[in-house]
Amino acid sequence: MRIGVLTGGGDAPGLNAAIRAVARRCFDLDDEPVGIRNGWAGLLGQGDFRPLAPHDVSGILHLGGTILGTSRTNPLKSAAQVDEVIENVRRERLDAIVVIGGDDTLSVACGLEDRGLRFVGVPKTVDNDIAETDYCIGFDSAVSVVVEALDRLHTTASAHHRVLVAEVMGRDAGWVAVAGGLAGGADFILIPEVPPDLDEVCAHLERRTAQGKDFSIIVVAEGVVMPELVSKEAIREVDAFGHARLDRRGVGETLSRIIEDRTGMETRVTVLGHVQRGGSPSAFDRLWATRLGVAAVDLVHEGTFGVLVAVQGNRIQPVPVADTMGRMKTVDLALYELARVFY
Ligand code: F6P
Repeated sequence: MRIGVLTGGGDAPGLNAAIRAVARRCFDLDDEPVGIRNGWAGLLGQGDFRPLAPHDVSGILHLGGTILGTSRTNPLKSAAQVDEVIENVRRERLDAIVVIGGDDTLSVACGLEDRGLRFVGVPKTVDNDIAETDYCIGFDSAVSVVVEALDRLHTTASAHHRVLVAEVMGRDAGWVAVAGGLAGGADFILIPEVPPDLDEVCAHLERRTAQGKDFSIIVVAEGVVMPELVSKEAIREVDAFGHARLDRRGVGETLSRIIEDRTGMETRVTVLGHVQRGGSPSAFDRLWATRLGVAAVDLVHEGTFGVLVAVQGNRIQPVPVADTMGRMKTVDLALYELARVFY
């Protein structure tokens, strides 16, 4: 068989481990793995393919980024592009494609199913918000970056007796904020799922001061909605899937100004941004990427298509990708409430 593999959407540590796993399982089964460059963009025009030989996937397990490149291209926006994708798959004689991506990338695969696209999805996003899967590749590595940053912010916050706001990734779901904040000892966490009560945040900071605690760490997910946002203009700039550029909204900056204005406490903001998506994958991400990549190829061999290799407990369960669409996995509010024990 000729099995295509692509990585789409925002990169995440562990993508190369997944590509390697797909290719290595293909070699095992005498299949030919074919890399598709830059996500769905690699199936447009003349197509942009890279047949994968053993040496192409050697030495990449520990590398961040993706050797195939990625993009946020959405061919579903144009009937002509849909035709190009289908024609390229046919011309390249791909029996199926392993689609490694988040909900946007997977939604394209799903939308092409009725045009005959055969695919298996692998869940990837540092946001960890795909429905039906407990885990998405990249999340653990991103959380590790947040935790290391919070450890560092603690020492400088303590030295200067300041409030430090850390803005972390999380468009619609605050998993990185909650997991990073819990593991990094945050004194307050704000997530998109819970409308922010800034009076409560300020009152909490003042209570801490009254208790003799002269510094605080606040973690805020970039997707938190506040009426006072610095740059409302930037919200209008959207990508091919209609998502706003959250890095331009200045959530951390806005929060930091409000805290300083209302409490008089000296406050600084650190935006962790794409540092969370860069660098080597954690052992946990490498392990799941490896398991999920192999499982995806095995499902292609079984003839099971249109499914996501979902992590459920410690097992891999194929679930129809269609069942995951439009159903974000938001933060377990019990976990969010648990964080309050440590405020
Ligand atoms: O989709 C995951 C994500 O990391 C979001 O948390 C973030 O808002 C977005 O990607 C950033 O995307 P880009 O790299 O295109 O700016």
